[in-house]
Amino acid sequence: MQSENVTTLETYLAERKALIDGALEEFLPGAGDGPEIIHQALRYSLFAGGKRLRPILCMAAAEATGGRGEDFLSCACALEMIHTYSLIHDDLPSMDNDDYRRGMATSHRVFGEGIAILAGDALLTEAFHLLSRAESTRDDNTEKRFRVINLIARAAGAAGMVGGQVMDLQGEGKTAALETIEDTHRRKTGAMLTVSVVSGAILAGATAAQIAALSSYGQDIGLAFQIADDILNVTGDSALMGKGTGSDISKGKTTFPAMLGMEASRRRLTELVGGAASHLAGFDHRAEPLRQIAGYIMERNR
Ligand code: IPE
Ligand code: IPE
Ligand code: MG
Ligand code: MG
Repeated sequence: MQSENVTTLETYLAERKALIDGALEEFLPGAGDGPEIIHQALRYSLFAGGKRLRPILCMAAAEATGGRGEDFLSCACALEMIHTYSLIHDDLPSMDNDDYRRGMATSHRVFGEGIAILAGDALLTEAFHLLSRAESTRDDNTEKRFRVINLIARAAGAAGMVGGQVMDLQGEGKTAALETIEDTHRRKTGAMLTVSVVSGAILAGATAAQIAALSSYGQDIGLAFQIADDILNVTGDSALMGKGTGSDISKGKTTFPAMLGMEASRRRLTELVGGAASHLAGFDHRAEPLRQIAGYIMERNR
């Protein structure tokens, strides 16, 4: 990526993150609401410094199809809440058993396992509460909103993210065919990234052809994102990423580097990012952030 683009993307991502953080603060139940511990726990994980990629993708897709990203902050924030819940549960002792996330001790280490499970449950539920609130879309198009809620529920559930997490756990210590690893990655990570893009497009009133193209873009960056995550688990800097590294090998996770080796994994990543960009060929300059985000997914170091 050219250095001018990098600066522009960095600024874009930082501005979006600030907007999203402000909106999350507004949409969350009050910090002082009772029982205090659960509100502390969900704020602890939400404001721990995530990249906010899913809400940014939602807003960027809305913009690529002629909408205003700011009009869809409630959907964007709901996606981040679901993602954060998935991370809290992913780190639990009964799952990946990780101690460090977003630069801080994991939720279960700070609040105990019971509260961490419940913080995840609360974030998931609050997300759908937010999505279904009457004031959640500016143009109050109930039909579009229902469609988005339906797709997000499907992407988060047993057919999507939860299903992928099940396959990830079941694969531990085993060898798997490349298609199985790819299917796991598409579900556990790709489904939520794809629906983030698609939701923004639907809410902004995109055409069916635009939605289909953006869905293909989402699927490519979704798989690419998890391959990059697998690579970073081997080669990344734990302090920079704010989470542990080396754990995939020690847990015998079925990952791209374990299955294909590093070089072939990087090649696949490059192919997917190229594929993602090609799905944006029919879009004008308003899709530029989406184009650059595809490159960022490949080159990121955190
Ligand atoms: C990490 O997601 C978990 C995966 C789905 C690979 P992110 O890398 O987007 O994590 P945050 O939100 O920035 O913490
Ligand atoms: C996380 O996948 C996917 C979800 C939380 C849905 P990983 O377990 O590979 O991600 P990290 O490396 O812990 O962030
Ligand atoms: Mg995991
Ligand atoms: Mg994990």
